[in-house]
Amino acid sequence: MITIKTEADINRMHEAGKILAEIHRQIATLIAPGITTQEIDQFAEKLMKQYGATPEQKGYRGYPYATCASLNDVICHGFPKKEKLKDGDIVTIDMVVNLNGWLADSAWSYAVGQVSEEADRLLRVTKESLYKGIEKAVAGNRIGDVSHAIQAYAEAEGFSVVRDFIGHGIGQEMHEDPQVPHYGPPNKGPRIKEGMVFTIEPMLNVGTYQMKIDQDGWTARTRDGKLSAQYEHTIAITANGPIILTEQ
Ligand code: MF3
Ligand code: CO
Repeated sequence: MITIKTEADINRMHEAGKILAEIHRQIATLIAPGITTQEIDQFAEKLMKQYGATPEQKGYRGYPYATCASLNDVICHGFPKKEKLKDGDIVTIDMVVNLNGWLADSAWSYAVGQVSEEADRLLRVTKESLYKGIEKAVAGNRIGDVSHAIQAYAEAEGFSVVRDFIGHGIGQEMHEDPQVPHYGPPNKGPRIKEGMVFTIEPMLNVGTYQMKIDQDGWTARTRDGKLSAQYEHTIAITANGPIILTEQ
């Protein structure tokens, strides 16, 4: 069941999203060779608390941290670690902010120091694919229109789209309906309506889209060990089009 949010609900989620956007902006200034994802995780958790918010991921189905930190070939759900980031790495930081019971979810990939041309292009195309999807997130379209726009763009640029993890409705629960795949045919899936709030969070890979899960039960990696990147926003559908709740 897809829950429709009121304007007041969306405003509450936007407040959570503004905090999340500010945390990502601050993380961006910290990312450099030498910092650890454990330090970034603790920084993000501290900031959430300063803003009167809580890290919704911590304890969610036993997930142990405030953030996911997914390095290089890790697609998503990587654990923050005490190893230092190195020049040339790419790392995705993903988190869900809970402000007074309302949630916002956003992931961002960061370049550490000077990255390869291939990594740089993967980051750019992945971010652009998110915005191609957002453009289609308008009342009257179907979810498949969002999915298809992302896949068509990503594959035209020579990258693959992860199948095993998808966007999702969000509100007072982290994962609600609808499901939002980042691949598939247009003009299929639920009709997009005013008051829906969902994430769009494409994960693009340099090689195969297939993945494997580490022994820790969480960390999802590309099967071929090649790079993966992700950008995610929480989007609200209004009469005037999509509003990005996790941007500003
Ligand atoms: N933020 C993730 C998403 O985009 C969910 C993280 S799973 C958790 O859906 F276990 F870490 F919370
Ligand atoms: Co997320």
